[in-house]
Amino acid sequence: MKHFLILSSCFLALLSCQPKSEKESITHGEEVYITHCISCHQVDGKGVEGIYPSLVKPDDITMDQTRRAITLIKQGSGFETGMKPVALTNKEIRDVINYIQNTWENEAAFLTKAELEQIQNQ
Ligand code: HEC
Repeated sequence: MKHFLILSSCFLALLSCQPKSEKESITHGEEVYITHCISCHQVDGKGVEGIYPSLVKPDDITMDQTRRAITLIKQGSGFETGMKPVALTNKEIRDVINYIQNTWENEAAFLTKAELEQIQNQ
């Protein structure tokens, strides 16, 4: 019992360890998603088969996928049935990416402001 208590308090401490800025980014990202993305990619992130791709990824999300998400948001796919550019601020881009990459079954490293700027300048 004592061990259980120690273990569970460690677990709770770990959970609350997620920095406040990360939680805020994900919470704000959800609002951005609801406003700008949900109509195509759906509430469960699974999109519409054959039309809008699923954003739920079985494997860990790579930096290449993050780069692609940023490019799609800023420039769109560049073909008629593809994704159109979405006019978002840099903060909104970062927050929505942190949301989609850490929701449903997805897990990814948190995208920082510096990383987003670096990717955009490439
Ligand atoms: C009008 C419908 C539409 C909206 C709105 C939309 N998307 Fe997309 N999205 C698409 C389509 C279509 C593709 C496939 C594009 C391609 O293959 O070039 C796509 C692809 C993607 C991909 C790549 C998925 C993969 O694995 O190939 C990501 C990430 C993504 N969208 C994120 C977003 C985010 C974030 C938003 C909101 C800011 C958003 N989309 C809004 C239609 C949409």
